[in-house]
Amino acid sequence: MSLKARIDFSNLPSHIAVIMDGNGRWAKKRFLPRNLGHTNGVKTAKNIVELARSIDIKVLTLYAFSTENWKRAQDEISGLMFLLKTYLKSELQSMIKNNISFRVIGDISKFPKDIQAELKNTCEITKNNDGMILNFALNYGSRQEILRALKNIIDKKIDNPTEQDISDNLYTAKLPDPDLLIRTSGEMRISNFMLWQIAYSEIYVTDVLWPDFSEEEFYKAILAYQQRERRFGGV
Ligand code: FPP
Repeated sequence: MSLKARIDFSNLPSHIAVIMDGNGRWAKKRFLPRNLGHTNGVKTAKNIVELARSIDIKVLTLYAFSTENWKRAQDEISGLMFLLKTYLKSELQSMIKNNISFRVIGDISKFPKDIQAELKNTCEITKNNDGMILNFALNYGSRQEILRALKNIIDKKIDNPTEQDISDNLYTAKLPDPDLLIRTSGEMRISNFMLWQIAYSEIYVTDVLWPDFSEEEFYKAILAYQQRERRFGGV
């Protein structure tokens, strides 16, 4: 039986978050420049977005650029910016056709102005689409996000804040928490990603490098999720 045939489509994760790791290693194994790893990583991202939408996943969050990624070589950073801009331009029509709403989590104020404009434009044009929310984490760091929430709460003079107040002031306000967190390329780390939101997420780590993360690998992650027993701290 194919992997797809084994999936219980009535019990899909509503929100899948992905740490797309291993582009650099994928390139290194082939004696290619790192940016070619990212180029192939973008191809995987396109495939996974389409696949997630086709099986009716409601929210897909992709960690595309962390607050720590600024430490990389300037040419790698500009390569990533270029890929992001090209991605937004090339995928807009497909987002519209597939009823996908594009959103950003993170602080994009440090991104080049043209990219900020492209991001805002993509969000604006797709904002009423309700098939799937595609969240791009860009210059995203979870501690920075929690601190920002705290400052918002102070600014709003909320007395005695609750957990809900914190959730409501994160970039992910109103979104369900991820049910499934996927990390590629084997590292057993969270890397400052959605620390608050993944409190009860199922974590799936695969050794497969992101550019090699295929449809079958995505189904494997969902099957692993469906084989877990989620107790949310109960018995
Ligand atoms: C991790 O690989 C990947 C990133 C830092 C960037 C993730 C970005 C992409 C997959 C492209 C995203 C999509 C768009 C549209 C821009 P790594 O370089 O950390 O790999 P390594 O750990 O093997 O070096």
